[in-house]
Amino acid sequence: MRLALLGCGTVGSEVVRLLHEQSADLAARIGAPLEIAGIAVRRVGRDRGDLPVDPALFTTDPLGLIKREDVDVVVEVVGGIEPARSWLVEALRAGKSVVTANKALLAEDGASLHDAAAEGGADLYYEASVAGAIPLLRPLRESLHGDRINRVTGIVNGTTNFILSAMDATGAGFAEALEEATELGYAEADPTADVEGFDAAAKAAILASLAFHTRVTAADVHREGITEVTAADVASAKAMGCTIKLLCIAARGADAEGRETVGVRVHPAMIPLTHPLASVSDAFNAVFVEAEAAGQLMFYGRGAGGAPTASAVLGDVVAVARNRLAGARAASESAYADLAVRPMGEALTRYHISLDVADRPGVLEAVAGVFARHEVSIATVRQGPAGGGPAGRGSDAELVIVTHVAPDAALAATVRELRGLEIVRSVASVLRVEGGA
Ligand code: NDP
Ligand code: HSE
Repeated sequence: MRLALLGCGTVGSEVVRLLHEQSADLAARIGAPLEIAGIAVRRVGRDRGDLPVDPALFTTDPLGLIKREDVDVVVEVVGGIEPARSWLVEALRAGKSVVTANKALLAEDGASLHDAAAEGGADLYYEASVAGAIPLLRPLRESLHGDRINRVTGIVNGTTNFILSAMDATGAGFAEALEEATELGYAEADPTADVEGFDAAAKAAILASLAFHTRVTAADVHREGITEVTAADVASAKAMGCTIKLLCIAARGADAEGRETVGVRVHPAMIPLTHPLASVSDAFNAVFVEAEAAGQLMFYGRGAGGAPTASAVLGDVVAVARNRLAGARAASESAYADLAVRPMGEALTRYHISLDVADRPGVLEAVAGVFARHEVSIATVRQGPAGGGPAGRGSDAELVIVTHVAPDAALAATVRELRGLEIVRSVASVLRVEGGA
């Protein structure tokens, strides 16, 4: 079994290392030896330390490598949309099995890859694309195929979880924590993808597609990142017995006519410390799956990093290699349900809103009136001396309001109106609250 490796960075170099260290076991599991036919990179001359591989295998011609007659399996760990899409479509149409960790591409245009795989009769596996080492996609696309999944909730980005954990545990600054996550190999080539939620949104689209048998793309996912989460938000969450996590939530629902829909969102949220996702720290990921018959399932493990991701890649390599030897192919994409995607405004959620207000009679009544006009019910109100607002306003007060569940559109309209009130000096922070009563 001959393998073309596209990319030899954080993940690719660990794939090479594991292939070398476990070659005898892998051969026994597959039923044939597994060899690297070539490795496509951007810079052949780059120093790759003590990587156990023949330097002559490196090339800057990925297409030439893919087209070679002796290549059976293509492993793509380069990333990005193009040229990765063209390479993988070429490989799949030629009947070569593909293993990829490229969630950005799968979420943007997974359809092209699935169509090419069907056309070429080839396997397309992508376990490493979501939640690193955690076996999650195979359970969704195989083990749970007899059940009906209603909701998937999780932490699926290691970099942002690392940053939020550091801010919460040690009071580390955002920039400092991001730098450390990048050094540890967790962040994307452009870390904006992590901190602005693009990476988690891509993963959410992949999870929703598999869970609900519907093609969901990154553009269908409501996305907010963590760049606006402040140290004050983290402290405020702590004071309430909560922590802040970047959550991915994909859930079934219904539209006004009762037709079934799916809603998929990624945003920071406060969750109670008693929630099982609250203790998921550093670059770990965890995903809850709620299914009709199986009930609640939780998947937990390392969500980023070279070796954990390479483990998932190699698991897929063994699977596709065995399929090839058996002349078989895994089941193709299941998108028969074709459910409509629900707008974010219809999502049911709770808000934690921190306001800097004038400290005078009637303020509470005016603020409560805005909530009432938008039919948003207030769960708790706490008033204290101004903390988060600009300095020099000794007579101002801070109001912290937590709402009951309401449609996101009503909550957003409430915040918009609050911003326009003369008595509201500033809306210091707005965070969604998930889990718990
Ligand atoms: P890196 O940036 O570390 O490595 C990218 C590799 O691709 C490098 O070897 C680079 O070559 C090569 N490359 C880049 N452009 C080209 C090109 N045009 N032609 C040929 N080779 C090219 O990325 P990662 O290993 O971190 O990530 C790879 C993929 O895995 C991405 O899709 C990422 O989203 C995904 N992933 C990453 C995880 C992680 O924890 N890092 C976890 C899960 C998924 P050179 O070495 O010469 O620079
Ligand atoms: N940058 C990604 C993360 C890598 O931090 O989760 C794993 O997909």
